Amino acid sequence: MNYAEAEKMLKKCGQEHVLAWWKKLDKAGRAALLEQVARIEPRSLTYCRQALAKGADVPDSSGGKAPKVAVLKGRALKDAVAVGEKELMKGRVAALLVAGGQGSRLGYDGPKGCYQIGPVTNAPLFYFHARKILARTIRYGAAIPFYVMTSEANNAATVKCFEENDYFGLNPDDVFFFTQGMWPGMTKDGKIIMDAPGHVFMSPDGHGGLLAALKRSGALADMKKRGIRSVFFFQVDNPLVEIADPAFIGYHVMNKSEYSLKLCAKRDPREKVGMAMRFGDIHRMVEYTELTDEQANRRTKDGRLYFLYGSPAIHVFDRAFLDREASRPMPVHLAFKKIPFVDAKGRVVKPSEPNAYKFEKFIFDILPKAKRTAFLAFEQKEEFSPVKNAEGNDSPATCRADMQAKWRRWFAEIGVKVPDGVPVEIDPAYAVDAEDLRSIGICLGAE
Ligand code: UTP
Repeated sequence: MNYAEAEKMLKKCGQEHVLAWWKKLDKAGRAALLEQVARIEPRSLTYCRQALAKGADVPDSSGGKAPKVAVLKGRALKDAVAVGEKELMKGRVAALLVAGGQGSRLGYDGPKGCYQIGPVTNAPLFYFHARKILARTIRYGAAIPFYVMTSEANNAATVKCFEENDYFGLNPDDVFFFTQGMWPGMTKDGKIIMDAPGHVFMSPDGHGGLLAALKRSGALADMKKRGIRSVFFFQVDNPLVEIADPAFIGYHVMNKSEYSLKLCAKRDPREKVGMAMRFGDIHRMVEYTELTDEQANRRTKDGRLYFLYGSPAIHVFDRAFLDREASRPMPVHLAFKKIPFVDAKGRVVKPSEPNAYKFEKFIFDILPKAKRTAFLAFEQKEEFSPVKNAEGNDSPATCRADMQAKWRRWFAEIGVKVPDGVPVEIDPAYAVDAEDLRSIGICLGAE
């Protein structure tokens, strides 16, 4: 893009102020600004301005009902596992990780996936994800292609982390990195914010940016070429997640679902997790902030919470559903933030109060578009312990404790007593469940 093209596009969108400091920029500064402008899609500016005009629109959730959530046991569990295993053996399952977030609460300098969480080895979060995928690849004899969404800010460091660690044992041909989009910040009246005279303030377009990024990068086409049908979606900060869990994949396939969610019972009525609710024939995610006190505390006759299950963002998508939704616009959410800006004299001001908006899309906004859905319960302690905060709840300390408690349960299950206080860590490629551990244990015993 050259200056004239940039000016034309910006004028058309009412954003010509982006070039206000052009004359003061050196050659490199001008080239960098043009490159930034070239990456701004006029269509996304329209979506952002529409979102600003609409304001923070909180949909009415008063008529919402609790969804039907399956708890698989006995025969039903065996059947789902068998279907899921068949899907895995046929190579129809992909893993999809969203790792483009900024991890601001954790305050770690680098991609969150590089955060060293291993209680004994200090292995990074990416290690646990990749090794679980490797374990299932070996067990079922078919590749599980791994699609990793990064952001412009952390893509290079993410790829480097995989390269330096030999892809944690995965075949590099089966790992696909792609970068999510960035959106400019805007003032209340819809003007793009410059955070330096030659630089537009941009931030990642949210985990919902996944759909457009999957399409743009060719990842969706790659999935199609490989014959993928079920796409297991997860977040970078939860090393307990059971990636491509056959029961969940199987339940999804048996229900011919387009969007399946794993849900777990909330620890308290006001826990900060999204809730899937049913409104007539469709389901929609209701954020914890939208839940009224009455809804949060409503009980069934047997005293259980009526809206019991929250979503920790563990999903399975039908690949064709992702394809269908990838070209459709998604709702845009606003976040009022402190965003540095350039004043009339070209000085950078760092505001002490929120002054402008960032924009984000959320992946669960496509839930109402799914023709068929499925909801499966799981136990929190087995599969969900995120690293969100530096300290306290959902921190590295709680996560490491939960990881170790899970491995200790496996040892207990196979009759091995691990003395208290001894740190425990199991490479997921060595054992992905207690059953694996038992078979390895028997081998070792026989030697
Ligand atoms: P969070 O909502 O926890 O955000 O992301 P975060 O950026 O990791 O952390 P904070 O809020 O700044 O502390 C949930 C998941 O969605 C991904 C994150 O990487 C994480 O796996 N995500 C989030 C993206 O991939 N892109 C985004 O723009 C936002």
